[in-house]
Amino acid sequence: MNAVYLSGTGNTRHIVNRLLDELGNKGTVLPIESEDVKTVFASDEIIIAYPTQFSNIPYLVRDFINNNQNEWKDKKIFLITTMGMFAGDGTGCAARLLKKYGAVISGGIQIIMPDSVCDCKALKKTVQQNKEIVTKAENKIKGIAAQMKAGKYPQEGLSFWSHLAGFFGQRLWFYNKTTGYSKKIKIDSDKCIGCGICGNGCPTHNIKIENGKAVADVKCTMCYRCISYCPKQAITLLGKEVVQQAGIEKYT
Ligand SMILES: Cc1cc2nc3c(=O)[nH]c(=O)nc-3n(C[C@H](O)[C@H](O)[C@H](O)COP(=O)(O)O)c2cc1C
Ligand code: SF4
Ligand code: SF4
Repeated sequence: MNAVYLSGTGNTRHIVNRLLDELGNKGTVLPIESEDVKTVFASDEIIIAYPTQFSNIPYLVRDFINNNQNEWKDKKIFLITTMGMFAGDGTGCAARLLKKYGAVISGGIQIIMPDSVCDCKALKKTVQQNKEIVTKAENKIKGIAAQMKAGKYPQEGLSFWSHLAGFFGQRLWFYNKTTGYSKKIKIDSDKCIGCGICGNGCPTHNIKIENGKAVADVKCTMCYRCISYCPKQAITLLGKEVVQQAGIEKYT
């Protein structure tokens, strides 16, 4: 089984790697921004993993599915989404799109992980609380891997009821936030030291350094990587200031 993932702050990458380790799987595992990403199509079984955004798929992942529509026919796809609290049908959104292109959805899991929206105070938890969340998620993955080895694939987020929960719980109110790439990255040029960490890590190449300062374009997939790893807390997106930077390495 090969795997492709989007992971802004490392949660989704961590979960994919843990599941594959537990399964003893030695397939190719690549971030979606990798130049070699198309090599994942060499397998008939593929994991697609991403963070839930407003109970929807990040736009870069949707683009990837649509841009490779001829690759999905008869592929067996297992979906993983990670979330801060509630995904509804976070896996189901990708499942419906992939089925349109002929994919067979073998199952899906939705895993609670630390929230990556680091410029919103209401969502923040302590490092200790986030460590406990990660431990719980890792234990859940062990159970899921055991089930999968026995041929039972979980179906989280794929039911009609999940579809209703995702739609009425979030997409109906926030749909406009995930219908395209975001133009809303804000960079405080007074704080920016031009180190380039943000641009080097951005999966959509949305940030460049011009005259010693970072400048954002309009193709942000809202992954929160630049915001979480900027050493000067100079970048924001949904909120007005960085409250506490996220990043899986703090919790593992
Ligand atoms: C723009 C945005 C929207 C989000 N929306 C949701 C959401 O609807 N429900 C939820 O539980 N978590 C939500 N989250 C939290 C992330 O899904 C969660 O932290 C995820 O594990 C991040 O994974 P990553 O580190 O692999 O990027 C959102 C995060 C971002 C950045
Ligand atoms: S990571 Fe922060 S400080 Fe470094 S270039 Fe980007 S915005 Fe500026
Ligand atoms: S600009 Fe920042 S938040 Fe947006 S896609 Fe790039 S790294 Fe992610």
